[in-house]
Amino acid sequence: MRLAPIAPITASLFLLGACATAPELTAEANQPIFTMDPHSHARPQEARITHLALDLNVDMAQQVVSGTARYDIATAKGATRIIFDTDGLTIEGVTTGDGQKAEYALGETSFLGRALEVQLPPDARSVTIAYRTGAGASALQWLSPQQTADKQHPFLFTQGQAILTRTWIPVQDSPGIRFTYEARVKVPQGLMAVMSAENPTATSADGSYAFKMAQPIPAYLIALAVGDLAFRPIGDRTGVYAEPGMVDKAAWEFAETERMLVEAEKLYGAYRWGRYDVIVLPPSFPFGGMENPRLTFATPTILAGDRSLTSLVAHEMAHSWSGNLVTNATWNDFWLNEGFTVYFENRICEAVYGDDYARMLQLLGRQDLKSTIAKLEANGHHADTHLRLHLEGRDPDDGMTDIAYEKGFALLQLLEKKAGREKFDAFLRGYFDAHAFRSMTTDDFLAYLDEKLLKPEAIDLNVAEWVDGAGLPSAAIEPQSDSFVKVEQEVARWAKGTPAAQLATQGWTTFHWMHFLRHLPQSLTENQMAELDAAFGFTANGNAEVLSAWLEVCIRNDYDSAFERLDQFLTTVGRRKFLMPLYTELYKTEKGRVMAQNIYAAARPNYHSVSVRSLDEMLAWKDNRPPASF
Ligand code: BES
Ligand code: ZN
Repeated sequence: MRLAPIAPITASLFLLGACATAPELTAEANQPIFTMDPHSHARPQEARITHLALDLNVDMAQQVVSGTARYDIATAKGATRIIFDTDGLTIEGVTTGDGQKAEYALGETSFLGRALEVQLPPDARSVTIAYRTGAGASALQWLSPQQTADKQHPFLFTQGQAILTRTWIPVQDSPGIRFTYEARVKVPQGLMAVMSAENPTATSADGSYAFKMAQPIPAYLIALAVGDLAFRPIGDRTGVYAEPGMVDKAAWEFAETERMLVEAEKLYGAYRWGRYDVIVLPPSFPFGGMENPRLTFATPTILAGDRSLTSLVAHEMAHSWSGNLVTNATWNDFWLNEGFTVYFENRICEAVYGDDYARMLQLLGRQDLKSTIAKLEANGHHADTHLRLHLEGRDPDDGMTDIAYEKGFALLQLLEKKAGREKFDAFLRGYFDAHAFRSMTTDDFLAYLDEKLLKPEAIDLNVAEWVDGAGLPSAAIEPQSDSFVKVEQEVARWAKGTPAAQLATQGWTTFHWMHFLRHLPQSLTENQMAELDAAFGFTANGNAEVLSAWLEVCIRNDYDSAFERLDQFLTTVGRRKFLMPLYTELYKTEKGRVMAQNIYAAARPNYHSVSVRSLDEMLAWKDNRPPASF
């Protein structure tokens, strides 16, 4: 018998969620206190998962993941139910303990998916759910051979953050709920499967793989990739996975990964996850990188051929502390993940590449922050410029902007300056140690900051202005870069008539060029565009950051000669960070609008659901056909 749909969350449960007097859970003596997460149906105070064992089959032809998820659970005394998050999953049966059938019910559908409430017999210790994924599972991107680098085999990757794991695993999908996991995954023979766990380095004979993640992690960090993959070691505990045709290029590009890890450990303590590997995914991956534990998922657009975009690896690696070890309790606290990570990334880069590199990176970030604040404020979204977000009732993905990253960074940079680097480093190291494998709310952090740094060092700082105020506080430090001053001088010389070919650009790196392109006058003539292109070969540039910055300039100035390249870029690359500004720029003119719609119609089936969601909204896409491959 199916139970009635789950009643809406009541105010009393909200209170229960936040207070320390909730019934004690039975499994462990030292219970975490759970914060109410507005993006999960789970009620961890009543019953929560402590371990997950997956047994899955990946059907690449039918594009379905199916099998069982068995959970060890901890329950409060007298608990009668456990609630999971699901979204688009078909639940085929639920058992508890030794195979006893359990009653269960699926709740109403919303943007959070559907709650799955399972009735528990007294003293239940485990639950097993048999399920299969649906056609629109947003966490999964199934790629045809044509969409891969080698064009020989299909590919699958998952993306969990923020609330997508529930579309491929029934789970308590809240960043505040941690559990260990193991998995048995069966894939078509000849393909390799890797997860955010202990991984194989060779293809198995029969397509069966076993995985283990011994450290407790939140659901958004469970990840799987399946494809024709090869592995190359970098250091003793670092390496890279990619399609065979790309793996040597990737290993060369990421050769500094081991050094980065050494520097990261010097800064904030031991790396706690065993190995650190990177997998290079096909170009439709919607992000630059994703910090899946032990195995960062990365876009191929950082394979620049000159190691100039490896700060992204430093960023995802830094999440092994900020994010994966100490985790934002809810998506409202996202800045605790990303702001700390941008700061840590910058410190790793400073240690490995030097001060000049780190300052350029800071300035590029600050430029992004200023334009994000301007856009949000122009649209009246003032609260989205606060560090502490209020994403209740919204898809968290909509509020996750550069604010968390760069305003968060700016706050930490200011704290570093006020405390002095040595004290600040000791504070951060202590913070990671004291809260390892735990989640953190903004209030928890502010209390810790006050006690361990602001009070003892008598630091005067208006924290509320940063955390709950709009825009960038005036106390923020303006990053300075001599290199960028020189770039600006060259732009000025060119604007005054020095031929482009005579500018002093020797030794310029990707960051110099990005700054150059961002600093060109807004309006340029056809001749000027052609001159720049002839002197610097921008349209033919293989560096995705340089090329995308150039293409923006091209759209703005209606430089037709680059439009074929633009079309090609937009149809092969699915990284949202590149797509959004280019489509936005196109949409500013009638001609561009038509072009954008044509390109989007062709490219949309190649994009990940994450990018499609953002672009559909932005382009007000009206498509009555059923979704293509997602
Ligand atoms: N965790 C993020 C990616 C993410 C954020 C996924 C929000 C889903 C929701 C990752 O660490 C990240 O920040 N990636 C950046 C790169 C970084 C160098 C700023 C990206 O993808 O561009
Ligand atoms: Zn990040």
